Amino acid sequence: MDWPTLRDTVASCRACALCESRTQTVFGCGNAQADWMIVGEAPGEKEDLLGEPFVGKAGHLLDAMLRAIDLTRQSAPPAQQVYIANTLKCRPPANRNPMPIELTRCEPYLVRQVELVRPRIILAMGRFAVQALLRSSEPIGRLRGRVHRYLDVPLVVTYHPAYLLRNPPDKARAWDDLCLAKRVVKAHRVERE
Ligand code: URA
Repeated sequence: MDWPTLRDTVASCRACALCESRTQTVFGCGNAQADWMIVGEAPGEKEDLLGEPFVGKAGHLLDAMLRAIDLTRQSAPPAQQVYIANTLKCRPPANRNPMPIELTRCEPYLVRQVELVRPRIILAMGRFAVQALLRSSEPIGRLRGRVHRYLDVPLVVTYHPAYLLRNPPDKARAWDDLCLAKRVVKAHRVERE
């Protein structure tokens, strides 16, 4: 599937029951050739209304985290502008946790997004995103600090910005995760030069 077909397929998806309660699907946004791909969990209330990922409070913190490492979601070249997607394209009612069946049905869309973007790094944010991508039930605390792979793309795990809003002391750990991801991208660049 190319981008327009994928976008249309997601917009009309009825593969799980979340299609009944969504306002709209939240496909993802950013540079289609980005070096960095950010993968969150699922749209919340604001994202469901606006059709964009990470536009609420957690999104503001994500923007600040990106700014701290010279990245942005605004229009910029692929080395600076990230691509942002979620493991689920529809909002779970009342922001409940994603269900395994929903993650399974939705994953092919994310797989195709990763194949099309071919990022140099995936930053996976939050327990559900991380566990779904890595097929793991380990907590974030045990998965962060090393480089995993998803579809052969290096993947670094970090805390979800919504979690960081509730647990500010863990921001220092999230900063370490961003620095690790940055090192991975830099090493990859040097390798290709
Ligand atoms: N949390 C997520 O994981 N994704 C969003 O798009 C919004 C909040």
